[in-house]
Amino acid sequence: MLRVKRLNKNHDRKGFDCGDKHLNEFLQKHARQHAQRNISRTFVLIDDDAPQAIVGYYRLTVCEVVPGNIPDPRLHNYPNPLPASKLARLAVNMQKQRRGFGELLLIDAMQRSMSIAENAGLVGMFVDAKDERAAAYYSRYGLIPLENNRLQLYLPISTIRQTFEM
Ligand SMILES: CC(C)(COP(=O)(O)OP(=O)(O)OC[C@H]1O[C@@H](n2cnc3c(N)ncnc32)[C@H](O)[C@@H]1OP(=O)(O)O)[C@@H](O)C(=O)NCCC(=O)NCCS
Repeated sequence: MLRVKRLNKNHDRKGFDCGDKHLNEFLQKHARQHAQRNISRTFVLIDDDAPQAIVGYYRLTVCEVVPGNIPDPRLHNYPNPLPASKLARLAVNMQKQRRGFGELLLIDAMQRSMSIAENAGLVGMFVDAKDERAAAYYSRYGLIPLENNRLQLYLPISTIRQTFEM
């Protein structure tokens, strides 16, 4: 069975390779330190049959955004800045790509964002895409690129809520 868990010291970070040096390096060198310092959380997708092997991971944190930069005119007269969650990294092991695991992790990040929204308030989830291809990947899930930076995308919390209420 597949599960999404918080990264811990037993997970095999060295054995993870998504094909992107920087994304591998973050998991191997920085993810645990960020968690210990409460800067961000890294969640890993694990199969119970091989509980140490990391199928994929994402990093979630929070950020502040300027309402005028959000492609949602309803927010433009809200206080500045506004709170949001941020999916700062998403990666799947090369041997496991194109089987829907990226989608599974993205959905998990949306659910966790919704939980933060219920408990502390968030206007939505932002994503930093590493390139145009990654931005196109996120657009498929309804994320909207920002006008001033097409590699930053936004999903309103109302959309996330509707997704899980359906
Ligand atoms: C992007 C990524 C997380 C998607 O995860 P995945 O489990 O392979 O994706 P899914 O199975 O949910 O969806 C498959 C779709 O992802 C897209 N995709 C595949 N590889 C990709 C890549 N390297 N970059 C961007 N999109 C990619 C394709 O459009 C594919 O659709 P298709 O099979 O119909 O062509 C994964 O390919 C990956 O880790 N890539 C390397 C790191 C990366 O680019 N991360 C982007 C975050 S900034």
